[in-house]
Amino acid sequence: MNASLATVAYIGATILFILSLGGLSNQETARRGNLYGMIGMSLAVLATVFGPQVTAEGVPMIVGAMLVGAIIGLYAARKVQMTQMPELVALMHSMVGMAAALVGYATYVDPEASRNLDGAAHAIHAGEIYIGIFIGAVTFSGSVAAFGKLSGRIGGSPLLLPARHWLNLAGLIAVIYFGREFMSAHTVQDGMQPLFIMTAIALLFGIHMVMAIGGADMPVVVSMLNSYSGWAAAATGFMLSNDLLIVIGALVGSSGAILSYIMCNAMNRSFISVIAGGFGTTAAAPKPTGGPAEPVGEVSPILAAETAELLRDAKNVIVVPGYGMAVAQAQHTVFEITKTLRDKGVNVRFGIHPVAGRMPGHMNVLLAEAKVPYDIVFEMDELNEDFPDTDVAIVIGANDIVNPAAQDDPTSPIAGMPVLEVWKARTSIVMKRSMASGYAGVDNPLFYKENNRMLFGDAKKMLDEVLMSLKS
Ligand code: TAP
Repeated sequence: MNASLATVAYIGATILFILSLGGLSNQETARRGNLYGMIGMSLAVLATVFGPQVTAEGVPMIVGAMLVGAIIGLYAARKVQMTQMPELVALMHSMVGMAAALVGYATYVDPEASRNLDGAAHAIHAGEIYIGIFIGAVTFSGSVAAFGKLSGRIGGSPLLLPARHWLNLAGLIAVIYFGREFMSAHTVQDGMQPLFIMTAIALLFGIHMVMAIGGADMPVVVSMLNSYSGWAAAATGFMLSNDLLIVIGALVGSSGAILSYIMCNAMNRSFISVIAGGFGTTAAAPKPTGGPAEPVGEVSPILAAETAELLRDAKNVIVVPGYGMAVAQAQHTVFEITKTLRDKGVNVRFGIHPVAGRMPGHMNVLLAEAKVPYDIVFEMDELNEDFPDTDVAIVIGANDIVNPAAQDDPTSPIAGMPVLEVWKARTSIVMKRSMASGYAGVDNPLFYKENNRMLFGDAKKMLDEVLMSLKS
């Protein structure tokens, strides 16, 4: 493939990626968006492998590496549970970061890469390498730490070192100082030492940054690392002089940054505070995920048959799904119940909190998989005002996203986070297995409200019973 054909293919791939991002912004067009992305990526890979920058001897090596990657990817995709997706995504971001750092080192030691460069061009080349390795190393170690936190291997509470902001500042000053040393090095040997020291600082910085973020703010970290992985890819593009990688990296980097901003808004968090760490932990530090919450009142349990009766008699029902629905894989039964109720003339709608579950869009994906119609699935802001006119609000395995303490208790770790106001419905029913707390590790006063009932048990099992009663 000659250079101009490769350039045309790159432009085509860029357009497809932009269309893909546009498609992914809406449930109805998401499938098409995915398709554009897949075609764009295939085009990009083909144009790169058979393009002018790869020699004939290099092709078998690349194809071999791609085969190994494809096998690992297929295995991971088949094995991973939907609830483990955020950890997998974090792990993948770490790969992008590692790749950027390794490409930086390879470019630096490659005599061909800097041949014929002098003066300003040499300085720009060295700057690209230094910044590329820095972003790559931060993304790598930060993503590994996020993987540890999201998978429960590392505790969710923030690690707040004394004078942590000063530590970060000192790290930044050291990175700038060693950058100067690196830029003024005359040989590769001389440049290696400052490069190694900067990489070590960047790795520590990545870990420190993610470890300092409290459990309740982890959603932002996932999307923030997504953004970093985009910038790491863009940095790799600069180092390899690959325009497509620069453009795609910038697209991923900026869309990840926008998503982080949207999620911060959804949780009423300041973006800077989340990144600075330790936010949402001013009062009681969150207990480990799923730990027992302190009992602060009496709860009123309800049976599946009684729940079915309330639902059957209702005119307006709002379903609020959360992480527990994903764990129990209850979405198909939820769909069956919805269908049955709608056939009986009940107005059933779904309320989706922006950080319900464990990844952006988690609930939308599950409901789409179960074929719940899109037109009855609403964002939190679209139906929060409708709860007072709702007969039954049924909460399926959700906890933090329906916690009134976010509004009433300024000392709560989730204070200020907008929540779905299910307690304003005539009756709210919370389905969960025990009184355990949710991801943020805080007690939920909703459970003790007078108009609230608790339907204890695995969500799938209990919903099956509700469905049976509804049909009988
Ligand atoms: P959570 O607050 O984590 O609550 C989920 C509840 O589901 C738990 O209290 C658990 O109680 C229950 N549960 C678990 N398995 C169940 C099962 N098999 N059947 C029935 N119930 C089950 O979830 P949420 O309300 O969706 O809120 C999301 C939380 O995750 C927020 O704090 C958010 O910040 C955080 N987070 C979100 C993301 C993104 S991007 N969405 C990423 C990381 C973290 P039992 O154990 O008593 O059953």
